[in-house]
Amino acid sequence: MLVQGDEAIDELVLGAFPDSNQVMKEAPLLIVICARQDDDLTVGRKPYYLFDAGLTVENLLLAATDLGLVTHPALRFDESEVKKILEIPREYRVVLVTPLAYPVEPSYDEAAEERLRERTRKDLGEITHYGKWGSRKPV
Ligand SMILES: Cc1cc2nc3c(=O)[nH]c(=O)nc-3n(C[C@H](O)[C@H](O)[C@H](O)COP(=O)(O)O)c2cc1C
Repeated sequence: MLVQGDEAIDELVLGAFPDSNQVMKEAPLLIVICARQDDDLTVGRKPYYLFDAGLTVENLLLAATDLGLVTHPALRFDESEVKKILEIPREYRVVLVTPLAYPVEPSYDEAAEERLRERTRKDLGEITHYGKWGSRKPV
């Protein structure tokens, strides 16, 4: 669901988000991803509705980025407050909220710092199992 307008956005962010996410009030639009288990498959007692909501979010983030827009997915919110404020039915879970906003040009120093920041990634060998669980050797 979409939340627009200063008043509605302020009500939601002030009412359900921690201090660290109050900056979301600056966005012109909040996208609230809701999902209901009954709308999706459950296979081998694994409900896939949250997984599929995640795929939706990924596509949304990629599309927004491609359009030059800014997102900031957030899951730290009080779900029952979000549901109360937005009048979302009981059977839905609120999976994630992201603002959709126009980029603000960072100052030169900020941009340079971001580019130079060291990025650490786990080595693929640390997280891959080959053929049998626990085997770290490629076959
Ligand atoms: C599933 C998910 C949930 C997140 N939840 C929060 C959140 O509740 N609050 C927050 O400030 N950042 C949260 N983040 C991190 C930010 O959305 C963002 O990805 C991170 O700050 C990196 O930003 P950048 O990609 O613009 O560098 C979350 C990220 C993901 C992927």
